[in-house]
Amino acid sequence: MPATIVLGAQWGDEGKGRVTDYFSESADYVVRFQGGNNAGHTIVIGDEHFALSLIPSGVMNPSAIPVIANGVLIDPKALLAELEMLELRGVNTSQLQISSNAHLIMPYHRKIDAMIERYLGGNQIGTTKRGIGPAATDKYSRNGIRVQDLFDPKIFQDKLDTALEEKNRLLTRVYNQLPMSAEEIAEEYLGYAEQLLPFVTDTSLLVWQALRDEKFVLFEGAQGTLLDIDHGTYPFVTSSNPTAGGVLTGTGIGPKAIDRVIGVSKAYITRVGTGPFPTELHDAIGDKFIDLGREYGVVTGRRRRAGWLDLVALRYAVRLNSLTDIFLTKLDILSAFEEIKVCIGYTSLGETYEEFPRQQRVLYNCQPIYETLPGWNVDITGVRDFEDLPKEAQQYIEYVEERVYTPVRWVSVGPERQQLLDRS
Ligand code: IMP
Repeated sequence: MPATIVLGAQWGDEGKGRVTDYFSESADYVVRFQGGNNAGHTIVIGDEHFALSLIPSGVMNPSAIPVIANGVLIDPKALLAELEMLELRGVNTSQLQISSNAHLIMPYHRKIDAMIERYLGGNQIGTTKRGIGPAATDKYSRNGIRVQDLFDPKIFQDKLDTALEEKNRLLTRVYNQLPMSAEEIAEEYLGYAEQLLPFVTDTSLLVWQALRDEKFVLFEGAQGTLLDIDHGTYPFVTSSNPTAGGVLTGTGIGPKAIDRVIGVSKAYITRVGTGPFPTELHDAIGDKFIDLGREYGVVTGRRRRAGWLDLVALRYAVRLNSLTDIFLTKLDILSAFEEIKVCIGYTSLGETYEEFPRQQRVLYNCQPIYETLPGWNVDITGVRDFEDLPKEAQQYIEYVEERVYTPVRWVSVGPERQQLLDRS
């Protein structure tokens, strides 16, 4: 598997951390290509839980080189804190490679993120308040500050002064806040430069060389397809492309480099933050997904919203990403149900839909059309082979495959590294 993408096929939180951790056992490079420290990836190793936000999950494998490519928004304070946490827990981070072209999240981005959300009131997006939207805005309006600027204090100061003049006007006149100090920000950020310098490089070239040498390069997505800024449930999305296209621009490689695209989907579905969610449950079944699946955000601790698996949305993810395989996570959670529903279409405003609707108004009014499948009601957390699963669980997996025209190649039945069925 030379160049393999692992990405979220739902609204994030599909279990990508454990999936990347699994593949990174044999990976030479693990590359993050979008998002920032809004992501939360949990990896369970024995009794230990590691929560990663910015550093690729491949850092847990000593022989894989973790790469933060140009498409990632980097909050240097958060990055250094994560590096320190990992080192303190005995994880070697010295191989990390960071793109000099990646944009920085500045203190005013975090502040403006919080202000925008506050002023949106009932229309809030429910962001992680990590400054992602405002940092992406500055990137595209060409007001951003990049990692490489940290190593040229004059350029850094000039860019900061220009940006802060505008931000302080916004903060004081629109949001009624105190202005921020350029001196304090410069002192803090230029102080990070020395610590970050050993990690910084041309990651596009690095990845290209790795691919040329037929190394196994794993691209680790954050968030998920339905949070994509172009193709997700806009405006209730994140400010990046978690879809496969984001790998190309976010790393600096071309489409022919990619061999495999693995979509990670839970056996049910969750979302954090606001926005449309056709299969959302507001009943005891929804509560059961939250309790059994421990569905609380890694970054913000927020309770997630939950519902039955949505095959319309999954088919949309297959299409947008050219998925070659599906990695189905948390199948064990479905063992608690007598019968299992899957959404195979929607009705909305008098019409029936089999494909993901493009109109926001249609999506908001979607009511799921369900197919009900028999449950299995036995513990499957110890199963390691597909043939040893109860026949109803096998049927469930085969039903999903048929409906989305894509093989479910891996299935997880518990959080531990070995609680997994590999059908490849
Ligand atoms: P932002 O990325 O912080 O701007 O948040 C925008 C939306 O994306 C909000 O609904 C967040 O809850 C959601 N979001 C951002 N990162 C993640 C993630 O890693 N998992 C799930 N949802 C996320």
